[in-house]
Amino acid sequence: MTPAVPTPADLIPAPRTRRSGPGYFVLDEATAVDAGPGTADTARWLRGTLGAATGLPLDPGTGDGSRAVRLRIDTGVTDELGPEGYRLQVDTDAVTLRGGGPAGVFWGAQTLRQLLGPEAFRRAPVTADRRWTVPGTLIEDSPRFGWRGLMLDVARHFLPKDDVLRYLDLLAAHKLNVFHFHLTDDQGWRIEIKRYPQLTETGSWRTRTKYGHRASPLWEEKPHGGYYTQDDIREIVAYAARLHITVVPEIDIPGHSQAAIAAYPELGNTDVIDTSALSVWDDWGITENVLAPTDTVLRFYEGVFEEVLDLFPGTFVHVGGDECLKDQWRRSPIAQARIKELGLADEDALQSWFIRHFDSWLAARGRRLIGWDEILEGGLAPGAAVSSWRGYAGGVTAAQAGHDVVMCPEQQVYLDHRQHAGPDEPVPIGYVRTLEDVYRFEPVPPQLTADQARHVLGVQANVWTEVMENRARVDYQAFPRLAAFAEVAWSALPAAGERDFTDFERRMSVHYGTLEALGVGYRPPGGPSPWQRRPGVLGRPIDGAPPNV
Ligand code: ACM
Repeated sequence: MTPAVPTPADLIPAPRTRRSGPGYFVLDEATAVDAGPGTADTARWLRGTLGAATGLPLDPGTGDGSRAVRLRIDTGVTDELGPEGYRLQVDTDAVTLRGGGPAGVFWGAQTLRQLLGPEAFRRAPVTADRRWTVPGTLIEDSPRFGWRGLMLDVARHFLPKDDVLRYLDLLAAHKLNVFHFHLTDDQGWRIEIKRYPQLTETGSWRTRTKYGHRASPLWEEKPHGGYYTQDDIREIVAYAARLHITVVPEIDIPGHSQAAIAAYPELGNTDVIDTSALSVWDDWGITENVLAPTDTVLRFYEGVFEEVLDLFPGTFVHVGGDECLKDQWRRSPIAQARIKELGLADEDALQSWFIRHFDSWLAARGRRLIGWDEILEGGLAPGAAVSSWRGYAGGVTAAQAGHDVVMCPEQQVYLDHRQHAGPDEPVPIGYVRTLEDVYRFEPVPPQLTADQARHVLGVQANVWTEVMENRARVDYQAFPRLAAFAEVAWSALPAAGERDFTDFERRMSVHYGTLEALGVGYRPPGGPSPWQRRPGVLGRPIDGAPPNV
């Protein structure tokens, strides 16, 4: 039996160029995987995924005299399409996948998997007499942006390690390559730091959780929490690396730090409030409890970052820097003395001093700091990169000043925001951002010159989880919009207004099958399924809950 299989015209994200060839390749018992130098990881990945889905051996070998999937790194492809580019040629007797580097081979393998159809995304065969065919084609492909990211907030709601690993698989299936891991916030500290055990002993649990968004008067009266051990983190980072995904850890300072202060009260502004009375926050929004600008705090966080650097080998380390209320610093004699001693203009400059300290500290260790666009206030630390979230403005300012920037404006790519204005959305907060809105997102601000635009490293979708208590909620918010985002991040699309959303929707009709095979609880085009609607899900209290805001 041969079910209808996708063609190159159905791929998401769309490849740069594609041509149809004659006939098709059949993947069967005799098909060998012939891995050239530097491609062994992708060969193993193909055997693991396609092997599981098809039940075929996909033995290593050259496939002489029989059909083979050949994986090669090819400097010709590197020169033309870059290290992440690939050329995929499918003939009746061979699939030849040439990548500009190991990552290019891997992204090409993702394309091959899509061409085998949604059933290729299952973990075991479901049809005994399934014939696995790939249509003849020549695809040449490479990404528009080098930073194609997803940020997942595991602080507001902890996602168990397995859910994180699954998200890495989902990113890879969409050719996304940066996982921004938001590990700390007021409501929870999620990474084991050996020298400061209270960060997780105390900081990873809160006694209750606000049900709904900020205006809700309801709490769920049960503890919530969890954290990743250092071995969990090593596993996540290593797993990501095999998927050609870089994990960017975020330790949010100097705001969004109440969980840390609850664990170690000396980190807070002890001359303003009794920080020993603070607990891990049980509400949403922005708390005034921020780190004190003291040497004690700097040394403490250097200790945290030392362990973070050991765990995360990537260049960038995210230090947050967002939404740091300055009220306590205004009232704190210690903070005011520091401002005077350093000859700073005000509290914004004090935050800038704080961030600059870690910029130099990271740079001295061969790393680069990235922070939310508030780090522009009071002067941007030299060499720092910016996550532009409050619209385009931060990205424009940063790029014009010669700083690298990742575009993730909340108006376009905050996937915690609602997808429809109707009453059934399970997470009815924020701007309405439909699948089409995300598809039409243009990451490069039009006012940038070509030289300045080169500072746009790429794009990122952000998933904040205040009102997403588990993976089902995250799936619903992230998908299908992450598929549209992936195309924005990867494909060289025409200008936003000229994009063919009708064709994207047509391709999505195939892709929904893939998401189903992957077990993704996406938002159906017609709106949430009854079990996805807000009331009653997970048995949470709903009587009297006001609409979220
Ligand atoms: C943010 O949304 N506070 C970066």
